[in-house]
Amino acid sequence: MIPVNEPLLTESDFASVNDALRSGWISGAGPHIDAFEQRWAAYCGRKHGIAVANGSVALHVAVSLLDLEPGDEVIMPSFTIISCAWPVILSNATPVLVDSDPRTWTIDVGKIRQRVTRRTRAIMPVHIYGNPVNMRPLLDLAAEHGLAVIEDAAEAHGALYRGERIGSFGTLSCFSFYANKLITTGEGGMLLVDDDGLAERARRMRNLGFQPGRRFVHNELGYNFRLTNLQAALGLAQVERIDDIVARKRAMGKAYTERLSRLSGLELQVEQDWSRGVYWMYGILVREATGLDAAELARRLAERGIETRPFFLGMHEQPVLRKRGLFRGQSYPVTERLARQGLYLPSGLGLDEAQIECICQAVGEALE
Ligand SMILES: Cc1ncc(COP(=O)(O)O)c(C=O)c1O
Repeated sequence: MIPVNEPLLTESDFASVNDALRSGWISGAGPHIDAFEQRWAAYCGRKHGIAVANGSVALHVAVSLLDLEPGDEVIMPSFTIISCAWPVILSNATPVLVDSDPRTWTIDVGKIRQRVTRRTRAIMPVHIYGNPVNMRPLLDLAAEHGLAVIEDAAEAHGALYRGERIGSFGTLSCFSFYANKLITTGEGGMLLVDDDGLAERARRMRNLGFQPGRRFVHNELGYNFRLTNLQAALGLAQVERIDDIVARKRAMGKAYTERLSRLSGLELQVEQDWSRGVYWMYGILVREATGLDAAELARRLAERGIETRPFFLGMHEQPVLRKRGLFRGQSYPVTERLARQGLYLPSGLGLDEAQIECICQAVGEALE
């Protein structure tokens, strides 16, 4: 079986984690955390990095920092992971959905304006599968209405939008360092922000609301969302080779696109000329004319030894959110089609050209 992802760990990763282990800094403080935060923030062109336990809690902290009131609204794509909607719901606020662009699969930026109301507080663009959102009109709209932007860059390490690094655009930008991400700490995440006050609050919030000065006196509530120094040591070693990782991912993306664009039964994610995506996961959409959906294609690929993953299910189709009475009667046709017809192929950094060839051949056979 060719797995959908396998992390690529090197001698420098082992050495860095060993170094952290020997230093005795094994919990949620230590020099590797500080260095990892500084390196990642600098790479993305930001002032502050706040490392946290995973990408979902990075979004949780970012949303909490908005101090949403009940009934406030946050605009986000319908095609995303539940980590985007959940912290908004926990704040008794409302996620407001926008369908995807059928070519880029990211939020359809032209449809955001019609969803802005008096209650809108923020927009949350998500760079789906490493493909950058069209940020310029989104940022203009946010500025026009005084809205915060929470950039979900979990899948887009090292991607560029008009030459600038993804993660550099949001009032708050969030990353995940899960095992399948370009930089991984096993589990892990980070918030990036320029504002000193927001950075201070984010640091307190990830650490139970501890204040400088007398310990165990709390003026505000926080969580234990800390990343460990051991995890940060892994991330730090990987940041050193981010350029190679991005180059490798782009080469894999190119190799897939060259082979798969010949198959008339497929649609591929389109990279716009103003963006440089990182092909976090290589997604494919199977056309209805083939008579197949993604589940059937996945079954046929599994028979041929290829592991795949289905695409996200739209937020408006999530049983748990529907049970809460959210998104009743709403339909987002592009998202629904992506969920029904889309899957992603093995995309781990350990994948070689021969395996890509073999996967593409299997896709061709499976479509017949
Ligand atoms: C777009 C997006 N946002 C947020 C997350 C959450 O990250 P984590 O799995 O680290 O909690 C993910 C996870 O893969 C993601 O793909």
